Amino acid sequence: MRQNKSVYIKTFGCQMNVYDSERMGESLAEAGYGTTEDMAAADLIILNTCHIREKADDKVYSDLGRIREIKDQRRSEGLETVVTVAGCVAQAEGSEIIARAPFVDLVVGPQSYHKLPDLLFRAKSEHRRLVETSFPENEKFAQLPERPARQARSASAFLTVQEGCDKFCTFCVVPYTRGAEYSRSVSDVVAEAQRLVAGGVREITLLGQNVNAYHGTDGAGAPATLAGLVRRLAEIEGLERIRYTTSHPRDMNDDLIRAHAEVGKLMPYLHLPFQAGADRILAAMNRKHTAAGYRAIVKRIRDARPDLALSTDIIVGFPGESEDEFAETLGMVREVGFAAAYTFKYSPRPGTPAATMDGQLDEEVKIERLARLQEVLEAAHEAFNARAVGQTLPVLFERPARQDGQIVGRTPYLQHVSVKGDPALVGQILPVEILAAQPYSLSGSLAAA
Ligand code: 5AD
Ligand code: SF4
Repeated sequence: MRQNKSVYIKTFGCQMNVYDSERMGESLAEAGYGTTEDMAAADLIILNTCHIREKADDKVYSDLGRIREIKDQRRSEGLETVVTVAGCVAQAEGSEIIARAPFVDLVVGPQSYHKLPDLLFRAKSEHRRLVETSFPENEKFAQLPERPARQARSASAFLTVQEGCDKFCTFCVVPYTRGAEYSRSVSDVVAEAQRLVAGGVREITLLGQNVNAYHGTDGAGAPATLAGLVRRLAEIEGLERIRYTTSHPRDMNDDLIRAHAEVGKLMPYLHLPFQAGADRILAAMNRKHTAAGYRAIVKRIRDARPDLALSTDIIVGFPGESEDEFAETLGMVREVGFAAAYTFKYSPRPGTPAATMDGQLDEEVKIERLARLQEVLEAAHEAFNARAVGQTLPVLFERPARQDGQIVGRTPYLQHVSVKGDPALVGQILPVEILAAQPYSLSGSLAAA
């Protein structure tokens, strides 16, 4: 295909944005755009943005400052640059972005990526700035081009199966930026997975803002659950590992827990946010579960799959959180023993109920609690890695390492492992004897298979 223009895409935020950026790139490739890693050389710059916390939002505007300079410089050389803001900031702020940054040409929300080539054409031919943030009836997946079964860039790929969220946690913008829950059909997902596997992918992570609430339809039009989808995907020859993220405790049903016990390809690792350890805070967050409820779910999952490791998301400094309530969060962390965790200072987001609640805490309190929490989590993470030493674990090799002669892969528990090995082994799953643990990675040697 003739590629006479280039696009630079920068991705912020979650894995779903990574997936969306790839799909945008594919759809633009069909319209004649090649990708470039050099922002200053691009005819089209896309920022795929994140709105989840204030810091993510700020980064977008600081990048836009730099882009304005690039656009001015290129104009002085007679070159045109089209600047596009996509993603959740686009959805949340819409035309405000253009008011604040008038050199932005196009603002496009996450449900409208399939329209990008057409919007670019219209912006140019009609000489105007366009803002497209409507929520069309989920035509996005139907209209994005089929993913080509081309050679995969990595042995591990993301695949969005569900988007949006109906939970309305009081701190969170996702129900507003990504809209109501929507699930793709089993046949759509299976077809995309088959193309990925044909291109060399061995591990697929199913993505959704609330992925375990997945409720698609199977080939006969009957309802399908995430467990059903996982079982169907497990039949694909050549697909060796299945993961899913991110989940809500309320949707961890028996069916899915059973799949963890029965489906060998489903990895023994689960990301299950609990957000806070005190029931009063959980209620104010509208999490729809209690601390005891969360513990009970963890117990059921571990009974089904004793070697399963957990990771989680935690927010410190939610409005009104007392010192004792924060201590309950620390208690939960100590008790469950997470392999990893993402921790956040509460960030008030415009339009969410928690942003106007009484009892907003000072930044210093949040910083101090976050530091204490991270200390406990780091110790847990190091202990988790240390336990791997002496074990032989299957490792999916993903790429050559920076050090010569080394390759890097991941265990079922997402730990990075480096070993001495031939780059030709990338893409394979091989047993590795773990010899040492560093704080954030493991090293070992290839074991005889
Ligand atoms: N402030 C801080 N953290 C937040 N998260 C979502 N919204 C906010 C907010 N307003 C965190 C939650 C969620 C993760 C993706 O981001 O922990 O699980
Ligand atoms: Fe946000 Fe997750 Fe709560 Fe949905 S379940 S509102 S995505 S934190």
